[in-house]
Amino acid sequence: MATTDICILGTGAHVPAKVLTNHELARMVDTTDEWIVTRTGIRERRIASKTEMTSHMAAAAARAALANAGVTAEQIDLVILATLTPDQPMPATACLVQHELGVPAGAACFDLNAACSGFLYALDTAWAMLASGRHQHALVIGAEKMSSLVDWTDRSTCVLFGDGAGAAVLGPARGTAQILGARLYAEGAHAGLLCVPRSPKPFIQMKGREVFKNAVREMEDAVRDILEQHGVAASQIACVVPHQANRRIIESLAQYLGLPLERFVVNLDRYGNTSAASIPLALDEARRAGRVRAGDTTLLVAFGAGLTYGSALVRW
Ligand code: COA
Repeated sequence: MATTDICILGTGAHVPAKVLTNHELARMVDTTDEWIVTRTGIRERRIASKTEMTSHMAAAAARAALANAGVTAEQIDLVILATLTPDQPMPATACLVQHELGVPAGAACFDLNAACSGFLYALDTAWAMLASGRHQHALVIGAEKMSSLVDWTDRSTCVLFGDGAGAAVLGPARGTAQILGARLYAEGAHAGLLCVPRSPKPFIQMKGREVFKNAVREMEDAVRDILEQHGVAASQIACVVPHQANRRIIESLAQYLGLPLERFVVNLDRYGNTSAASIPLALDEARRAGRVRAGDTTLLVAFGAGLTYGSALVRW
């Protein structure tokens, strides 16, 4: 397939029904709604039930994306699921989603872990596999059950994360929602800033301030690189869909890029940080809200554990 024909044909999202508000959290750990809102912008997040797994949320988001794209499960020949919270170490959660949706056996299905940058890594991987001509229609999903990795007694991390899923269908089309390109990066030297150790407590550990500083710098670099590569000026970006970790990080990025905050999609107030699900969730919301119009250029930008980071440009 010609790379200029690889497009986003549709998007979808799914979040669990249960809402956990800051006020409820303040009854669980020593925190306040005011502290969380001021430092992060988060007001509430969704929490999956014990039996609601990453595969279930992923399948629901994927179904919505297929319907939105007008593509059937039988047409899908590639499923890439970005997640750091697979249902189990094996088989890949992508295979469970394949089975759930009825995607044919001829499809390649695998999980990909690039933490919160996972969706952009998956998008770019799918793009390259479609460009090779060996696949026609890809489901690219970001889905997370972050609540399973959170230490609910640690106020410095438990206020930040939430559960959910988002998905996109990629396939051939002409002149609409074209993926112009992506840039991916990793700095393993900073692996210790954000991790889930195997023991003694297998929960998220984070050096918040350092992650914050790196996040702003890395996202700015990723944006400048991709804009330069494609000859696009920052002012030409109609809409930015950033990873939803912290409102202050997004505000800093907007300031560094000289773009008004109104161009940034922000939904972390309702979902918190859903890791690999955050960009597809926000992208789907932006499309439904009419914030993405034909001819617009949208910028996607992420950072996460690794440290990984990346950017992508889509022309609608
Ligand atoms: N409620 C109340 N107080 C809290 C708290 C909470 N939920 N969490 C931490 N604190 C306290 C700390 O204990 C500290 O107290 P001390 O000064 O008495 O030691 C104080 O608040 C300041 O902590 P600090 O970590 O310096 O705050 P901060 O301004 O850096 O904000 C984060 C903390 C986590 C919100 C911020 O660093 C951040 O968002 N970092 C990036 C995290 C991120 O995006 N991670 C995901 C990457 S994909």
